[in-house]
Amino acid sequence: MAASIGTSPTAQWRAILSKHFLLRYLDAEELDQLLTFARQRRCVAGELLFQKGDAGDSLLAILNGHIKISTLSGDGKEIVLNILGPGELFGEIALIDGKERSADAHTMEPSELLVIDGRDFMPFLNARPELSTRLLVVLCERIRWVSDLYEDAVFLNLPSRLAKHLMRLAASYGETIDSGTRITLKLSQQDLGNLLGTSRESINKQLRAWQATGLISVDRGLITIHRADEIELLSQAF
Ligand code: CMP
Repeated sequence: MAASIGTSPTAQWRAILSKHFLLRYLDAEELDQLLTFARQRRCVAGELLFQKGDAGDSLLAILNGHIKISTLSGDGKEIVLNILGPGELFGEIALIDGKERSADAHTMEPSELLVIDGRDFMPFLNARPELSTRLLVVLCERIRWVSDLYEDAVFLNLPSRLAKHLMRLAASYGETIDSGTRITLKLSQQDLGNLLGTSRESINKQLRAWQATGLISVDRGLITIHRADEIELLSQAF
């Protein structure tokens, strides 16, 4: 595991974390206090940060890079629950309920994280009722996200699910270029399949069909949406 540890809070850490819904109400002094508990961890691409079932005794924040939250079935099939990016927090579930990690976490590219031990975070949290309420909101978002994924898996066909997900990715990672919106997060077709509960082959077939009609294009793994209005319409079909 490639990790390098630093201890002093930096302006960069503050700038990234102060944007998070959970932490942005803290004043500068409180945020700095929290950051004195944080240590930096640098990770290589594809690094396993923890596995479902591990003991969970820390909260993690993403400074840069993306983290895949996933689980594996008994026969090795992966379900991707979420992909988290800079400024997002994870690892709060095991910290709060004191049980094991609820999913695996892997880096998708070289990434930098902040790690705060539960023994430092929990007293900080318990002393601030508003922080606890905000943490509940973060947990509510996780529940909404998972119920949406479940609902889509049951009610929507694959073209609709994929269209909906491309629009979500475009909203979070879209960059406007002359020919449309390029999704700057590189996701493999396998990852997309694991996120949408289908095979890599089905994703590939659908993307190729949309490429043939000019709705999208794929260049070195990056998807560009050329006709967002039509992808949006597809995302609402059943
Ligand atoms: P924890 O259970 O400690 O470890 C796995 C982490 O993944 C979990 O905390 C959450 O931070 C995160 N996580 C689990 N499920 C989801 C989800 N469906 N969406 C986003 N993040 C999740």
